Amino acid sequence: MKTTDRITNKKAETSSKILEKLNEGGYFILDKFKDKEKLSDLVRQVILSGIEKLEGVECRRLVESDGLCKMHQHFPADKLADLDLFVKGSPCVKEVILQLSFNVGRGSLKLPDEFFMEENPFAFKISYPHQVAVESKVTNADYHQKYSALRNRITLEENLKLRSKQKINYPKKSSIGNLLKIASSLKKSIFEKILSFGRSDQNQLLETYKGFDRIANQPYAAKVHQPHIDSWYGAPLEGISLWWAIEGATENNGVVLYPDFFGQAIDFQVTEASSSYLPFGITLTKPYKIPVPNGNILLFKYDMLHSSHLNISDFTRIAVVAQIYPQLQFNPDAIHARGTGFHSSADIARGDWENLVQAPIEDNFGVLFENKQKPHVERRISVRIKADLLEGIPICLCDSNLLKNGEKMLVTLQSESIIVIRNARGLQAVSAICSHMGVNLIDGFHDEQNIYCPGHAVAYSLADGSSNCEFLKLQVYQVYDHNQKFFEKRTMRF
Ligand code: FES
Ligand SMILES: [Fe+2]
Repeated sequence: MKTTDRITNKKAETSSKILEKLNEGGYFILDKFKDKEKLSDLVRQVILSGIEKLEGVECRRLVESDGLCKMHQHFPADKLADLDLFVKGSPCVKEVILQLSFNVGRGSLKLPDEFFMEENPFAFKISYPHQVAVESKVTNADYHQKYSALRNRITLEENLKLRSKQKINYPKKSSIGNLLKIASSLKKSIFEKILSFGRSDQNQLLETYKGFDRIANQPYAAKVHQPHIDSWYGAPLEGISLWWAIEGATENNGVVLYPDFFGQAIDFQVTEASSSYLPFGITLTKPYKIPVPNGNILLFKYDMLHSSHLNISDFTRIAVVAQIYPQLQFNPDAIHARGTGFHSSADIARGDWENLVQAPIEDNFGVLFENKQKPHVERRISVRIKADLLEGIPICLCDSNLLKNGEKMLVTLQSESIIVIRNARGLQAVSAICSHMGVNLIDGFHDEQNIYCPGHAVAYSLADGSSNCEFLKLQVYQVYDHNQKFFEKRTMRF
């Protein structure tokens, strides 16, 4: 099935049609669900209270009058991390997320049986426009120190609930098959993954995501996620993600989906920042950049590869992410702990909002990659040249037969790297390093007009190296064929 057949935004789909589309690797924008306005308004009120508490009543008034999507003009980027923690710590927001998940699962998707939800206080996502965010001095590392304390408190609260109810009603598995699965998963443990990251240093050409080493030092207000699958972070398999747009989600700051990877056996790589991301060396497919109107929910299945789009819009983007799980089975390789308990839809339907179902990861491993194909790995063409470009002096790169129509090639010179693409317009060349976080573009998708960064999906024009953000540009080079050889002659600098 072509990707385009799987994608639907039609408003009047039936719930079974929506589920069918999601199961086939499509996405859906839900514009009607129970209590939509009320729940969205509650989240907005909590955000406004946080703004008032942290920056005063006048700031709140200005944000209310201009709209949350313009809050970067009034509320300082340096206080965004504190606002985030204020919202995540709000009992009201926890309840809203749970209510939303229940309403969508039971009311909109009409899930037939018991399903599970998290009281997920960790999925409030706020980002400022890049040019404002990068000025902030508060880093991701600063934020994570405070966030761990909040998370520990909430986990403690969950544990207390579990103990007080003593309800463990999810069947534990203890078959020999499961024990073997645990043993094999330990073999492929975090240590092996970290070692494989270390080994990557030996091949500089493939260090696509090397720029992410510095993520801890990036401003929190500019936080973005590179391509990943939520089960890599411990979310149960088979879940449905609810990406709820509170304010300002456009195609230049929202979620980016890669549906052409859906249903394939992709594994992750642990970075030094101990995040789980797509390994380098896998060429990304076409990115789908999804604008979501305020209050609507973007739905997609758990194994959809997705990332954030770097916020290159003029808006503050606010989203809340929740998940619904038809079952509680986990990725045996996941390295990040999840919450300790889950709410059952059966309990909520009975009016019991307190009870938690426990499903320890080690007792509930799911099956990975059965009957799944590995992703197609594009032929990697790369050339290393022990020379540097001198202004106006052409340099021979390689045999021109190396690059076929539609392909791209990485040329690494002594002090710069270049992507050369052959397409219907002939040969085009741009610098290989994304000007956001230094990610190598060789793994990015390209078409006739643009190359897309595999990190956070910024599109760079192949014609002039520009993007939709005036601060992010690539250098353009002129490459030409001569006597079956490629030559490069730099003609333009920014
Ligand atoms: S590294 Fe973020 S857009 Fe390129
Ligand atoms: Fe995610």
